[in-house]
Amino acid sequence: MEAKLTNKSPESIKTDALILPFTTESLKKLKPKTKLEKIIKQVGDDFKADKDQILSLTGLGLNAKKVILCGLGAEKELNPERLRRSLSIAIKSLNVKSFVISLLNVNLSIKDKITSATETVVLSTYNFDKYKAKKDKKVPVKEALLAIKEPMGKYQTLVKESQIICNNTNFVRDLVNENSEETTTLTLTNQAKALAAKYKSVRIKVLTEKEIKRQKLNLIHAVGKGSNYPPRFVILEYRGDPRSKEKTAIVGKGITFDTGGINLKPYGSFLEIMRNDMAGAGTTLGIIKAAAELKLKKNLIGAMPFVENMIGPKAYKPGDTFVSYSGKTVEVLNTDAEGRLVLADAFSYIIKNYKPARIIDLATLTGASIATFYEYVAAMLSNNTKLSNQLQNSSRNTGEQIWEMPLYEEYKALMKSDIADIRNISRERFGGLISAAVFLESFVENLPWAHLDIAPTAWSSKGFYYNKMGATGFGVRLIIDYLKK
Ligand code: BES
Ligand code: ZN
Ligand code: ZN
Repeated sequence: MEAKLTNKSPESIKTDALILPFTTESLKKLKPKTKLEKIIKQVGDDFKADKDQILSLTGLGLNAKKVILCGLGAEKELNPERLRRSLSIAIKSLNVKSFVISLLNVNLSIKDKITSATETVVLSTYNFDKYKAKKDKKVPVKEALLAIKEPMGKYQTLVKESQIICNNTNFVRDLVNENSEETTTLTLTNQAKALAAKYKSVRIKVLTEKEIKRQKLNLIHAVGKGSNYPPRFVILEYRGDPRSKEKTAIVGKGITFDTGGINLKPYGSFLEIMRNDMAGAGTTLGIIKAAAELKLKKNLIGAMPFVENMIGPKAYKPGDTFVSYSGKTVEVLNTDAEGRLVLADAFSYIIKNYKPARIIDLATLTGASIATFYEYVAAMLSNNTKLSNQLQNSSRNTGEQIWEMPLYEEYKALMKSDIADIRNISRERFGGLISAAVFLESFVENLPWAHLDIAPTAWSSKGFYYNKMGATGFGVRLIIDYLKK
C-alpha cells in the first residue's frame, strides 16, 4: 500500500472512490460551484458531517465512481486524531484498489493533515486474514492519493516517514496476531537477526539459554524453564548518532505465550489471547526497525527477553526464591506474575553492560490496568517527570492514549517479602497496576525510567477506528514521536 500526494483537483481524478471530509461548519459554509458541490448541497439532512458519519454517493456521472462524504464533527473539536478516526471509517467502508482523499478543506496544519491521512491509510487497510479462505476485502488497496493545494515537494518526506513508521506498526501487528507456535522465542530471535544483518547501524547480541544461565540471568531462566522453546535474551543496538554517547533503552516484555505457569490462568482471564504477551517486545523490535529505516539520529538499545511461560514438570514453582542478575533475591509467590521477573533481569543486564541514559519499558503487564482503562488507555508509571511529560506530549500527537499513575511510597510496603529482598506479587488483592510498577522500579537503579503497561491497548477485542480486531501495534508511533523530539 502506498500513499502519494497530488496537486490535481480531487474532482478531476479518475478513481474508484473519492473521500471528502467535512466539519459540520465547513459543510454549512460550502458555496457550491462545481457539479459535485451542487450534489452535496442537495443531499440535505442525510449528511450533516456529524462525528463518524459517512454517506456514500454513487452513479453521479463524475470522474470518481463513488464519493464518500466523511463527517469530522464540530470544527472546534477538530484535531489530528479526530481526522484519523473519521477517515478510518470511510476507508474501512471501501472495497477498492485505489482511492483519493481530499485534504483541501480540512482546517489543520498541512503537516498534520498529511501525516494523519497517511497514517490512517496504512493502518486502516491492514488485515490479518491469512487464515481465511474467503478474504475480508476482494482486492487489497494498492494506492491512496492525498490531494493538497500546497507545493508537494517538501512534504514528500513526511509521507515516506509516516509510511515507514506505520508499516512497522503493521509489522508488529503481524508478529502479535500470528500463532504462538509460529512466533516463538526462536523465530523472534531470527527476526531480530535479520534486522541486524540488513542494517549496518544495527548490532545484535543473542544470549542463548546456556548463556542466560551462565550469566546468572536467573529470573529469565526460571520463567523459561517449563517451555519446549528455550529462552533467548536479544539486545539490539542502533547507532544513529555516532557523535553522542547517550543511549535510550527500550525494553519489551517478550512472553510468547503466558499460560500463567503452575498458577494456571483460569477461564475468563484472557488465556486465549495470551500470545499477545510479547507485544512489548514486538513493539521494541518494530521501533528499532523503524529507527533504522528512518535513519533516526538517536542511539538506542532494544532489549527483548523472549520467554514462554508454560506449565509442566519443568516449570518454576510458586514459593521458590531466586537470585536475580542484580543480586537482589525474589520470592516468587505467583508464577503468573512473570513479566516483571524477566523485565527485572533485562533492566539490570542492560544497565550494567550498556549504560543507557534512560529506560522506557513496554509490557502487557497487568490485568489490573485493564480493570482501570479497559482498552482505551495505556498506564504510564515513571520516576522522572521530564520523561513522563515528554511521553504524554507524544501521546497527544499520535493519539495513542497514555495516562500517568502515581508511584507513591506507601505501595512499596506491599512488595516486602518475609524471606527474600522482594516478592513478585503484592500482599494485598488491590492496587495491582501500581505494585507491579513498584517491583520494576526497584530494579532501575534510579535511572530516569518510564513504564508503559500496554495490557489495555495492545489488543483490541472488537476493533476501534484504525485498529482492527486483534493486535494494534500500540507504541511504535508513540515512541518514535518521542525519540524524534
Ligand atoms: N500477561 C499478564 C497480564 C495480562 C492480562 C495481559 C490480561 C493482557 C491481558 C500478566 O503476566 C499477568 O498474568 N499478570 C497478573 C499478575 C498477578 C498474578 C499479580 C494479573 O494481572 O492478573
Ligand atoms: Zn502472567
Ligand atoms: Zn504475562
